[in-house]
Amino acid sequence: LAEHQLKNIKITITAGPTREAIDPVRYISNHSSGKMGFALAAAAAAMGADVTLITGPVTLATPAGVTRIDVTTAEQMHAAALKRAELSQVFIGCAAVADYRVADIATQKMKKTTDDSINLTLIKNPDIIADVAGLSRNRPFTVGFAAETQNVVHYAKDKLIRKKLDLICANDVSNSELGFNSDNNAITLISAVDEKTLPLQSKTELAKAILLHIYLQFSAK
Ligand code: C5P
Repeated sequence: LAEHQLKNIKITITAGPTREAIDPVRYISNHSSGKMGFALAAAAAAMGADVTLITGPVTLATPAGVTRIDVTTAEQMHAAALKRAELSQVFIGCAAVADYRVADIATQKMKKTTDDSINLTLIKNPDIIADVAGLSRNRPFTVGFAAETQNVVHYAKDKLIRKKLDLICANDVSNSELGFNSDNNAITLISAVDEKTLPLQSKTELAKAILLHIYLQFSAK
């Protein structure tokens, strides 16, 4: 993919974890590093795209030429993503969004009690990428990620169909050499019509290969 091939294409990417408060000092989150989403943003910007990166809390530097929007919770990411998605030709959901949030966030630090167990009630967060893919106006070409520990391709295909995505990048996270926190990854790209495996390589190289595949599918539409 040449240097300016994505010129005039607006791409919105979500990255990192979301963080769901329990009280003012505690939260629920996950181990997403944001590396894959940031690598995609850097590669897309280097290819000339107009890139917006919506990220949860991560420790990564903003890639050159990328517009960054920092969010904390899934609901904040949802609001920012839907606003940007309608202005974009391509949307890539790379964030590890918390599936649930705490129903009643305590306003003061929760105190330890004499009880041996306590309960937290969780409520489902909105599915950001499903809402983007479901836009009736200005729907972007929508690309998801699926991190699985078994039946990787099968579960990814199910997500592709259920969330009405154009493409899904399936990723086996049972192998600690890949995925979360690693600098390397291997991915199978799955669309309604074909499947392509991109072997283990750096997230930087993988990002370029994923963008090339997206570009070819998107421009064929
Ligand atoms: O269902 P699951 O979380 O495995 O789906 C993964 C894909 O869906 C990723 O592309 C992720 O960014 C996106 N997703 C989302 N909003 C959610 C949950 C997942 O955008 N609430």
